Amino acid sequence: MSENNVMAEPFIKVENLSKYFELNRKQTLKAVNDISFEIYKGETVGLVGESGCGKSTTGRCLVNLYEPTSGKIYYKGKDTSQFTKQEKQAFTGDVQMIFQNPYSSLNPRMTVKEIVAQGMKYHGNYSKTEIDCRIEQLLEKVGLGAEHMSRFAHEFSGGQRQRIGIARALSVNPEFIVCDEPISALDVSIQAQVINMLKKLQHDMGLTYLFIAHDLSVVKYISDRVIVMYLGTIVEEAPVEELYKNPTHPYTKVLLSAIPVANPIKAKANKRIKVSGEIPSPINSKPGCQFAERCPYAVDHCFNEAPPRKEISKDHFVACHVY
Ligand SMILES: Nc1ncnc2c1ncn2[C@@H]1O[C@H](COP(=O)(O)OP(=O)(O)OP(=O)(O)O)[C@@H](O)[C@H]1O
Ligand code: SF4
Ligand SMILES: [Mg+2]
Repeated sequence: MSENNVMAEPFIKVENLSKYFELNRKQTLKAVNDISFEIYKGETVGLVGESGCGKSTTGRCLVNLYEPTSGKIYYKGKDTSQFTKQEKQAFTGDVQMIFQNPYSSLNPRMTVKEIVAQGMKYHGNYSKTEIDCRIEQLLEKVGLGAEHMSRFAHEFSGGQRQRIGIARALSVNPEFIVCDEPISALDVSIQAQVINMLKKLQHDMGLTYLFIAHDLSVVKYISDRVIVMYLGTIVEEAPVEELYKNPTHPYTKVLLSAIPVANPIKAKANKRIKVSGEIPSPINSKPGCQFAERCPYAVDHCFNEAPPRKEISKDHFVACHVY
C-alpha cells in the first residue's frame, strides 16, 4: 500500500467473503472461506496460491459472476449487495475479467468483432459506426489490427486469443480488471509481451488490477501488494518487496522456495522448505488452520482454531498461531 493509500478509501473492500458450493446434501465445498482484503485505486494486487485454493472463485465474486455465500464486497465505499438496478448495471461494466483459458473463454463461432462488441452493445449507447471505429482502436491497443475483425476466434493462437479477451474486457471502459492467470496458458516466449502490454494499458488507462497467478515469480514483476491464499483462506498479505524480503507464513516460504534461482549462492541461501502430503480436499474441510496437516511447525491448537490475521509490520499481515 502506498503512502497515498493510507488515507484513501479502498476502491474495493472485501469483508469476510465466503463462497461455498453445495455439491449434494452431505457435501459442501468451501472454495473461499471468510477472506477480507482491500484494493486501492491504480494498484495491482497479486493473488497467488496452488491450484484449487479459490483464486478464480474470489475473482468471479469480485466481478459479480458468482454471488457470495456470505460476506460483503464494497465498491467505492458502497455495499454491492445493496446496489440499485442501475448501479448494478454500471458496476458490471466497471469491473471486468480476463479469463484463465483463452481457448475456452472465447466462442469459436463468433468473429472478433462480435466478441468485442458484445459488452459495448449492453453497456454503451454506441452507433454501428462508433462500434466499428472503437473496435479498431481497441484491437490496435492490444497489438492486433482491423484485418482481424472478421476472423473467427478459433483461427488465432493462444497469445492472440488472450489479446482478444483483453480487448473485450477493455471495450466497456472498465476501472477494475481481474486478470485470472492471463499468461499461464501461453508460450513462455509471449508471456512477457502480454504482461508488458497489461502494464502499459494500466498506466495509459488508469486501471486497477487483481492479478491472479499460481506462483510468486510472475506476480513479483507486476504487483504492488501480494495476497497468498491456501485452501480458501488468506494466509499472508504484504507489499511486494516486503513479502519477498520477509516471507513469514510457512506456506509463503514453501511457495517462495519453489521459485528457481539462477544464482547458485542465492539458491543455497534460499533453503527449500519441504512439506508433506497433498493439498487436502476443500470438501467438508476441517476447522483450524487449513495448512496444519502439512505444516512442519504445527502445534496442537493449529488443528482446532483458525489463526487470526495479525499485522506483524506495517501493511504486512499473517494468519498463523506461531507468529
Ligand atoms: N462452479 C463450481 N462448482 C463446484 N465447485 C467449484 C466450482 N467452481 C470452483 N469449484 C471448486 O472450488 C475450488 C476453488 O476453485 P478455483 O477455480 O477458485 O481455484 P483456483 O485457485 O482458481 O485454481 P486454479 O489455479 O487451478 O485455477 C476448487 O476445489 C474447485 O473445484
Ligand atoms: S497456524 Fe499452525 S499449522 Fe498453520 S501455518 Fe501457523 S504454525 Fe503452521
Ligand atoms: Mg483459477
